[in-house]
Amino acid sequence: MTRILGIESSCDETASAVVADGREILSSVVASQIDIHRKYGGVVPELASREHLRQIVPVVREALAQAGMKLADVDAIGVTQGPGLVGALLVGITYGKTLAAALGKPLVPVNHLAGHVHAVFLEAFKAGRVAKLPAVCLIVSGGHTVLYEVTAGDADGQDLSGLLRYRKIGQTRDDAAGEAYDKVAKLLGLGYPGGPILDRLAAVSNSAPAPVKFGATKTRGNPLDFSFSGLKTAVLYHVREHPEYAGEIRAREESLQRGERKYEQLLPLCSPQTLALVREFQNAVVRDLVERTMLAAEELAVESVMVSGGVAANSQLRTTFEERAKNKGIEVFFPSRALSTDNAAMIAAAAYERFRAGVFADSSLNADPSLVLA
Ligand code: KG4
Ligand code: ZN
Repeated sequence: MTRILGIESSCDETASAVVADGREILSSVVASQIDIHRKYGGVVPELASREHLRQIVPVVREALAQAGMKLADVDAIGVTQGPGLVGALLVGITYGKTLAAALGKPLVPVNHLAGHVHAVFLEAFKAGRVAKLPAVCLIVSGGHTVLYEVTAGDADGQDLSGLLRYRKIGQTRDDAAGEAYDKVAKLLGLGYPGGPILDRLAAVSNSAPAPVKFGATKTRGNPLDFSFSGLKTAVLYHVREHPEYAGEIRAREESLQRGERKYEQLLPLCSPQTLALVREFQNAVVRDLVERTMLAAEELAVESVMVSGGVAANSQLRTTFEERAKNKGIEVFFPSRALSTDNAAMIAAAAYERFRAGVFADSSLNADPSLVLA
């Protein structure tokens, strides 16, 4: 059994995990910094680095303890090399390098996006399912909205022991979908991060009439590219043009200032019109993500669709994908919510295939904030 210690620090989660043979999670610890960044309405890079420095040692220690292991039991260390915030990445990389050198164990550099793809395989393994390749993988988070074709390194598409091959087939031209959620939540006085609360509010809008309809987003050129900044601006203009929203937005902002930011506390401060607006926004995001991903899946005649990243936690996105895929005879795979958002189990899992292929880094390994997967 190969046990890999994963370290992830690319954004605002300090995470460590131990994964056996790339598929069995022995432990997974995530220290989120949301409470630190919340009052700024987004991740502040300097604060993120400082918090990673504070958390990295206890988080790694906890991951080992939960796996019932000592550092010496680790076979290799997998660390996120990029993409992400440079100062944040450097904390994990420096610690990973130091551990690898001290223990005399290999250091495996991992692309964070490959980690999100592997989160799907981890979940499938847990559920006793096989995510057959070739697949189309949508990675959709606060920082990324990108579509890859994923094929197996070896020919039969079943054995994942070879290195996976990635081909980028679409991406956002402006905002990431999660960023749109966060910006719309902010302008509606619904706090940070926006995804989870908008998800729940949209679900209770019932049949309140739509105050506005958002048409399908057109992207010239590649039909598999996304764009979300126009939608966010459309919400902004709609709210500005309708003064009736102002009072309730102020009331919710005051609620947030009192620290009352829970769904149960904000829901009574939302009019049916606001709930319907949130529903229309979410319908537009989900429709766009699902349409383009399914278009890619059909064009490439893949076996599976995989969806990963923070926004993959969205309930409507999950049900819509499942319905659409069933109609098309394609299998759809989502990680659990815990594996959808940033974590280190996915990094350790992605490190395993590289470990087997002998892809190691030496002490010159550096952070690459804009590392590409393909
Ligand atoms: O993957 P993640 O934890 O961090 C990165 O951005 O890499 O994703 C966080 C993003 C945030 O933008 C958050 O608003 C969004 O994922 N998110 C959601 C949901 N839960 C988190 N968006 C929509 N629906 C959700 N349920
Ligand atoms: Zn991520």
